[in-house]
Amino acid sequence: MKSIKDITLDIILKDPDISSAFTCEEATKLITTPPDPELGDVTFPCFKLAKTMRKAPNMIAAELAERIGSANSETFSNVEAAGGYLNFFISDKYLSGTLLSEIEAEGESFGKNEIGKGKTMVIDYSSPNIAKPFHIGHLGTTAIGNSIKRIHEFSGYDCVGINHLGDWGTQFGRLIVAYKNWGSKEAIEKGGVKELARIYADFYVRAEEDPSLNDMARDEFTKMERGDEEALALWEWFKKISLDEFMRMYDVLGIKFESYSGESFYNDKMDAVVKELEDKGILEDSEGAKIVRLDDYDMPPCLILKKDGSTLYATRDITAAIYRNNTYKFDKCLYVTDAGQSLHFAQWFKVIGLMGYDFEDKLVHIPYGKISVEGKKLATRTGNVVLLEDLFSEAIERVRAIIEEKNPDREDKDEIARKVGLGAVIFNQLSSGRIKNVNFVWDEVLNFDGSTGPYAMYTYARCCSVLEKASAEPVSAAPSTELTKEEKELLLTVTSFPEKVKKALAEYEPCDITRYVIDLSQSFNRFYHNCPILKCEDDKKALRIKLCRAVKAALGNALYLIGIEKTEKI
Ligand code: ARG
Repeated sequence: MKSIKDITLDIILKDPDISSAFTCEEATKLITTPPDPELGDVTFPCFKLAKTMRKAPNMIAAELAERIGSANSETFSNVEAAGGYLNFFISDKYLSGTLLSEIEAEGESFGKNEIGKGKTMVIDYSSPNIAKPFHIGHLGTTAIGNSIKRIHEFSGYDCVGINHLGDWGTQFGRLIVAYKNWGSKEAIEKGGVKELARIYADFYVRAEEDPSLNDMARDEFTKMERGDEEALALWEWFKKISLDEFMRMYDVLGIKFESYSGESFYNDKMDAVVKELEDKGILEDSEGAKIVRLDDYDMPPCLILKKDGSTLYATRDITAAIYRNNTYKFDKCLYVTDAGQSLHFAQWFKVIGLMGYDFEDKLVHIPYGKISVEGKKLATRTGNVVLLEDLFSEAIERVRAIIEEKNPDREDKDEIARKVGLGAVIFNQLSSGRIKNVNFVWDEVLNFDGSTGPYAMYTYARCCSVLEKASAEPVSAAPSTELTKEEKELLLTVTSFPEKVKKALAEYEPCDITRYVIDLSQSFNRFYHNCPILKCEDDKKALRIKLCRAVKAALGNALYLIGIEKTEKI
């Protein structure tokens, strides 16, 4: 469906004075929504036309208002000149007739676009490190990545989600030493990643007393690199335990990846890339290490090989990007990580460019801020972390307590508590610009009356319940020539959904959708409280029900795009 802005644009570009002065692109940039709805639904400034039309902007606006207004009275109830601006008022009939019917016809596809048709996007997100707990620091990349992926799919892209597991590195040498010396098979089988993390944290404590443990760990890792069977079998086992646990979280969130090729997948592919860097003359020696200098780009050098010849995080990322480009022929490849890694990505993206690849510009780093719970920051080093699973359980428990209090006899308490609890957590994570730090304050996150996930989910369920009650009511609605304030506002909000999707897509910003979800919910609730839906004249009733169906489509799809599993009953 075309947005109101685009519909207006199409109309004004038919005017010879406007089309001779502006290209479609230029006009698109000028047309906006006025700050105050009293001024109209769409506005277009005429100042630049003064040159071509050789008149004062306010006179131009008056002339165009008259001409465009009278020729398009079906679409606009009024076209007004205000100073040098042309202000357009969409007619009630057009909104409640043509546009609402278009939404109805689109049904479940409402809001989709085809910007990505025939294009492939690869997204590397979540990507936790093996044998480390899946903690709340991973919520950002997981929730943001999932939402960005869904927004791309909704926009026609073929998407490949990659979980670039941190499954290789010297830490596995330490873990093997820890396991062999003070770990137990039974305890790990029972305790999973928590137990792995515990014996791993112990390594640092013990190595303070006995530094020879560090040499042992190095030896174990060297064994892994040489393909030693025993060391690799342990590594595989640690990996399986971790992955089983991660999968539990992904299942809970309804997330699937197309690939789980982690860092280790690139072990046998890096030599060729190092050689390529060498052959292309961009690798330099620096105190025994190999680096790519980035002085010309105001960045510290990118480290490719350590003194002992071992590879680094960047070496793997460069190798992985070349591999992905060959394998998926992507139109863009996104990386969702915390903002602390921004320099890392800027550095190796540049190395790709220096290597002469043409896909440097297709690589996009999507950073996000830090997370805390009730003001307490995440502490990883000390092992003192809030696990994501625990955060979810707490949210679910708290929602269950609320339901228990309000509605103790419900049968589906578990199901509702699970959906609303998870939805609350995800919504909170996505509710402000992703680069901002996120704080979890339970009373705010779970407030059914605030700008929260539960509020939006409750509104969705309310809309579904109206529709269920209305199922026996008349279905065909005639457009209205006189909408109430709430109806009009709601219609305008609903129709703006496709635009919001495009904005979120262009900016990689799930919060464009969370904000929309709140706007739409508030607008629907104002309508619900002020306009009787089932107890009014037949004509009005049919239109209002049709409007509810449009809200259900927009809100349902918007919730899907931010990764929230909706429920028709709360
Ligand atoms: N495993 C890394 C971490 O936990 C994130 C990996 C992000 N992806 C990448 N290709 N570097 O910080």
